[in-house]
Amino acid sequence: MPDTTILWTRKDLQAATGGQLAGDVKVHGVCIDTRILKHGDLFIALIGHNSDGHRYLRQALEAGASCVMAHDEAAISTAGLTDDPRLLKVDDTMQGLEALGRYRRAQFSGRVIAVTGSVGKTTTKNMLATALAPYGQVHASVASFNNHWGVPLTLARLPEEAAFCISEVGMNHPGEIAPLAAQIRPDIGLITTIGSAHLGHMGSIDAIADEKAALFAALPSSGTALCPEASQGLARLKQALPTGVSLWQAGVTTSATIRITDLTCTADGSQFHLTTPRGDTDVRLAAPGPHLARNAALALGAIAALGLDPKAGAEALRHFQPEAGRGQQRLLPGGITLLDESYNASGPSIRAALDTLALMPARRHLAALGDIRELGQFAEAEHRALAEPLMKHDILTFCCGPHMKSLYEALPPSLQGGYAENSVQLASLLHPALQKGDVLLVKGSLGSNMRALIALLEQPMSTTTHAPESA
Ligand SMILES: Nc1ncnc2c1ncn2[C@@H]1O[C@H](COP(=O)(O)OP(=O)(O)O)[C@@H](O)[C@H]1O
Ligand SMILES: [Mg+2]
Repeated sequence: MPDTTILWTRKDLQAATGGQLAGDVKVHGVCIDTRILKHGDLFIALIGHNSDGHRYLRQALEAGASCVMAHDEAAISTAGLTDDPRLLKVDDTMQGLEALGRYRRAQFSGRVIAVTGSVGKTTTKNMLATALAPYGQVHASVASFNNHWGVPLTLARLPEEAAFCISEVGMNHPGEIAPLAAQIRPDIGLITTIGSAHLGHMGSIDAIADEKAALFAALPSSGTALCPEASQGLARLKQALPTGVSLWQAGVTTSATIRITDLTCTADGSQFHLTTPRGDTDVRLAAPGPHLARNAALALGAIAALGLDPKAGAEALRHFQPEAGRGQQRLLPGGITLLDESYNASGPSIRAALDTLALMPARRHLAALGDIRELGQFAEAEHRALAEPLMKHDILTFCCGPHMKSLYEALPPSLQGGYAENSVQLASLLHPALQKGDVLLVKGSLGSNMRALIALLEQPMSTTTHAPESA
């Protein structure tokens, strides 16, 4: 069923952007990609690194767009849209999108939460969206829409009647968070973790902490800042807090505002007791891993920071599962259990995944690891340092990629399963080594293409080994 709620009218579109629009359009959604456009959407022709949305103006209308936002006169004319009543003509589409976001944010009377961090943004944002649902209508970023277009798109899609808006905020380079936070204007700022992701571009953990601190700096004096109590760069986060903003730290010590006690983590999930300034609750998570317990504590902490008793939120989290490639388990042919972490990798997220792997009952624990990208001059040391958790958990390790070579060489021979240059070649080493009852973690940065390795492991053995085929 198409969504018939009216998100934008002609009057609001013009008021927000200052653009011209002749038709009395009714917009039900906002979209920047014609491949996923829904009937009634406003299509915004953004200019990206490798593509220009202006090339798809006609296609957008043919797919049912109620309106298209564009600025390139030549493209508008080529598409035959110069006098089309469905054209919202602006000076710049990126600025137009931001203007929609700011306009909607300014109209919004619900509460706004922004989530950033080196790892765990999407998982925590999704946990918070799940946990907040019992308290009112939730609007949240789709997937990892957390950058210069993801944030304004999230805001431009915000329905007036929602009670809560949750926006993920990301960064790869210094200076990215402040302008995004200024658009979101959060009431609550949540930092999941501060760690070595994107260290190459950022230069130091302190620089990463300063960048995340820009989210706290954007909070109003009535706002609440949340972060783990043992966070790296905590002093820098505290320095950034505007006067009046409360800092709530989550952790296990008696001084934590959001306090975790009686934590038990098994392969079947985690449970703990949570104490918050708005009430206590037991928490049970079906998805395993201590990192998910920490994320859940922060998500429930954000609910308490909104002034709500977190009990109903904890109940809603019981069956929460992370998104694809972030820790789902499934069976591979041959009785091998896969822990699929192929979506992405950073030092902290590999450590978290290894801790989860170690919880799972197995004949042997194996890991297939691809390169962590964006570490620059820190790459070798960051990769090498993973030898410590691999040795601690006694994990037979298969590696691919130039950086992972440093890690592979740092491992004792008993844990060296095999090394290959890329994930496809690694599959042919790994496949014949797998045995029934093994539990295998697959993880690497998106660019190391560990999904290809999983796809090969999902096929019958003969397609990835060099064994002669039977006639
Ligand atoms: N608190 C955490 N600490 C360490 N790793 C985490 C944490 N939360 C999630 N992860 C792992 O980090 C990876 C990325 O998770 P995701 O939630 O998509 O983060 P982000 O949105 O920040 O990229 C996944 O492998 C996930 O399991
Ligand atoms: Mg994300």
